[in-house]
Amino acid sequence: MKEIEEIRELLEKDKAGITSLQQLNDLKIKYLGKKGLITELNSKIKEIPNEEKREFGQGVNELRSVFNEFYDEKKKQYERELLNEKLQKEAIDVSLPATSIPIGSPNILEKLIEEVEEVFMSMGYDVVDGPEVEEDKYNFEMLNIPKGHPARDAQDTFYIEGEELLLRSQTSPVQVRTMLKGEGKVPIRVICPGKTYRRDDDDATHSHQFMQIEGLLVDKNISLSDLKGTIDVIVKKLFGETIETRFRPSYYQFTEPSVEVDISCFNCHGKGCNICKNTGWITIAGAGVVHPNVLRMSGYDPKEWSGFAFGFGAERMAMLKYDINDIRTFYNADLRECREFDRKEAE
Ligand code: DAH
Repeated sequence: MKEIEEIRELLEKDKAGITSLQQLNDLKIKYLGKKGLITELNSKIKEIPNEEKREFGQGVNELRSVFNEFYDEKKKQYERELLNEKLQKEAIDVSLPATSIPIGSPNILEKLIEEVEEVFMSMGYDVVDGPEVEEDKYNFEMLNIPKGHPARDAQDTFYIEGEELLLRSQTSPVQVRTMLKGEGKVPIRVICPGKTYRRDDDDATHSHQFMQIEGLLVDKNISLSDLKGTIDVIVKKLFGETIETRFRPSYYQFTEPSVEVDISCFNCHGKGCNICKNTGWITIAGAGVVHPNVLRMSGYDPKEWSGFAFGFGAERMAMLKYDINDIRTFYNADLRECREFDRKEAE
């Protein structure tokens, strides 16, 4: 019993010195572990004379209860403290301004093309694709521009292998590909936005790689006035209802008649400014009625069918729409300029 009393006194002293969960757990080992003080007391019970066993046993049990009570209470206290500490550390100040995470957005040119696609799709057009590495046959010959024809000079072309394989200098070859695929069936209504390449020296208005948006419609009795109506719709959608369209006679091998499409200057409304170079008009596309030779070569009888075609310069349209004065800004991937595009687009 004296030993129980001694251990009890020791426990009281030890209790006072506990300041952490770790120490508390060490204390448990000290008293209740395999070789713990209380555990050892317990194993001594066999050595105790029978008449004292009961009292001794009670004494040890009491001691164990004292320990357990202390242990449970302290443990709870430390766990609560730890939790509070953690909550405090992880507290979120909801009144703080959020850190902004920069997110990407499509290039402004891409957005313009999507806008054009949507307008044409609403008129029943399909959006089609064609290869950028193209055969001379599709880029020139089947567009009524035979080998050696001077019209080829206007498009300084990148040739890849000999005279047959090139980087397409225009999206017009997609017209041929579409008609061949159409196998003489009508109507054909497609637009094809895509990259084109020419051996131009890059400057503010020229780039060796640029984008065109080609359009082709083939059906019965299609005339220049259908082209005019269609172009008018897209121009008004892109640049505003007050913008007018003007057709000027022009020349392309694959259309007859051929026209140049001008729009009235949205900046000065015809008065003359530096955007329209004081003419009041801005050229945005080449177009025309599909040449009978082109129809015939691609399997459409020109006596039965007719069509119109057009080719917009995508960068030119975007430069006008968003007041951008250097074509190279579309391609140099300068983040500051991209953000400026976004700002202009949001305006
Ligand atoms: N492909 C011509 C060019 O790059 C533009 C063009 C003119 C396309 C008339 C057409 C068209 O479809 O009918 O200059």
